[in-house]
Amino acid sequence: MMRAPQKLAKADAAYFRKWYRDPRHRVSTKAAAKRKVALVLAVAEYYLERPVRSVLDVGCGEGNWYPLLAALRPGLRYLGIDSSKYAVRRHGKRRNLQLGDFDQLGEAGLEGPYDLIICSDVLYYLSRATLTRGLRALVPHLGGVAFLEAYDRREPLEGDTAHLQRLSADAYRRIFRQCGLIACGSHCYVGAELAHRVTALERGG
Ligand SMILES: C[S@@+](CC[C@H](N)C(=O)[O-])C[C@H]1O[C@@H](n2cnc3c(N)ncnc32)[C@H](O)[C@@H]1O
Repeated sequence: MMRAPQKLAKADAAYFRKWYRDPRHRVSTKAAAKRKVALVLAVAEYYLERPVRSVLDVGCGEGNWYPLLAALRPGLRYLGIDSSKYAVRRHGKRRNLQLGDFDQLGEAGLEGPYDLIICSDVLYYLSRATLTRGLRALVPHLGGVAFLEAYDRREPLEGDTAHLQRLSADAYRRIFRQCGLIACGSHCYVGAELAHRVTALERGG
């Protein structure tokens, strides 16, 4: 079956320099990433009732989350997947990054279950079809909590806005639900294994 071409940004050295390091353009700071890492570890460990031991980070970029996670949970198993050849070539060995596309996660050789699956700052670059296909491949490998950062298409975003493929909050909710994910707040979701731990009020509307 033909797949629609995606409007992918070329995530090369210049891309990461501009959006992550150049003081005139950067939209992400280490302090903000640290706060997200603390949040997702706390949520995952609350539901798992033990420390996080394994992490899959899809659309991981340069794998910047790895040192932050490892500093808090030494010895955790981390795999990052990204479609940027530059990021994987430059940081792959040190941070265990693997070249791969969200659209083809079924062929990525994933070895779950993972305590934590992270999709930070990436879902709004994906078409509805790619998002659905990718999540269907990911959910069977989810043993704990998935951090799926997504925003309604009317909410403002900064950064590489030229390549966004934005969906409504309702569309994201529908796709997540169809893929077997249950919301537990702050962009976090559980799968069937931990569904019984999420109360009615945590699930939202
Ligand atoms: C804004 S960066 C986010 C990087 C990292 N997750 C973070 O939070 O800093 C978006 C990343 O998504 C990756 N990406 C975009 N489309 C992708 C796809 N279809 N499959 C895998 N990675 C993708 C890009 O290569 C880029 O590294």
